[in-house]
Amino acid sequence: MTEQDFTPKSQTSNVESASVKWESPSNIALVKYWGKRENQIPENPSISFTLSNCKTITELTYTKKEGTDFSFDVIFEGAKNAAFKPKIQTFFERVEGYLPFLRDYHFKIETSNTFPHSSGIASSASGMSALALCLMSVEKDLGSDYSDEFFNKKASFLARLGSGSACRSIEGELVVWGETKSISDSSDLFGVKFTENVHPNFQNYQDAILLVDKGEKQVSSTVGHKLMYGHSFASKRFEQAHENLAELKEVLMNGNQKRFIEIVESEALTLHAMMMTSMPYFILMKPNTLQIINKIWEFRQSTGSNICFTLDAGANVHVLFPKAEQEKVYEFIKSELVAYCQNGHYICDRVGQGAQRLA
Ligand code: PMV
Repeated sequence: MTEQDFTPKSQTSNVESASVKWESPSNIALVKYWGKRENQIPENPSISFTLSNCKTITELTYTKKEGTDFSFDVIFEGAKNAAFKPKIQTFFERVEGYLPFLRDYHFKIETSNTFPHSSGIASSASGMSALALCLMSVEKDLGSDYSDEFFNKKASFLARLGSGSACRSIEGELVVWGETKSISDSSDLFGVKFTENVHPNFQNYQDAILLVDKGEKQVSSTVGHKLMYGHSFASKRFEQAHENLAELKEVLMNGNQKRFIEIVESEALTLHAMMMTSMPYFILMKPNTLQIINKIWEFRQSTGSNICFTLDAGANVHVLFPKAEQEKVYEFIKSELVAYCQNGHYICDRVGQGAQRLA
């Protein structure tokens, strides 16, 4: 598919005012996306678990208007919020060619997250995917007749233009984004559901998100991805992501937990290694991030658990483990890891099925 496939035929609609509502989850990458080209095209493929509890709920009310400028208000957690406006303005500019009705309506965007605002959890994946899905529902309500499959593809395509990783939040449980040989229908333009049979070892996976540092991100993803331009290790890293994804595909099918852990942890540390070796360079892990990683390694060593960690572009730690180990891992988290979390906070999440239309 190409970009042109997402340009709709022109439509005239009599709808004066209506609203739509979606909830969309966050996701956690196992093979990380880090580095992008023009138009939000990833430099390497990635795969993520879609989450379940960390999500954004967005209601979009649209009302016919005069004039040709974009017109929208953002209400975040009940209060008008100007801080989100520039990001949404940019998003509207990027997607208007694919959503010709954008200048015909005023949009009221009422949005909230199920996770605390200042938790250091990026809300761009859940937020941008929820908004993209709302806009797709508007397009549908104005008369476009799409199959569910095309609807999801285009929603993912639009979400990508808001925030790259957001394109992996439309569906569950595992989503691949970025063209790569080992996944036949993979695309740089949108995320595709991982359709191979996932071994029971990796079904219902759990993710406890340990909030080590709830502050603002030290490096925005826009700045972060740019660090890969001219990075000495960039091309090798991009190659490695293809290899890791190909191997992880096999592992997800054959149930090899040891290799799963090795690939996932290595990917997390590689992401941070890229940041530590770029110019300018950053250390986004905090002392407590390292304490937690070492505790996880000790616990795995002494108990034979299949627990492992992954990281985003920040200090928080995602602790991944099979559902069968839930009880003993939460006991371990409470007794050994909570001490390293800011105010003792952590979020219990698990793999989910993707976004849902609420109204
Ligand atoms: O979607 P962005 O542009 O915020 O980039 C996110 C990149 C990572 O979260 C660090 C990795 C990933 O693949 O999700």
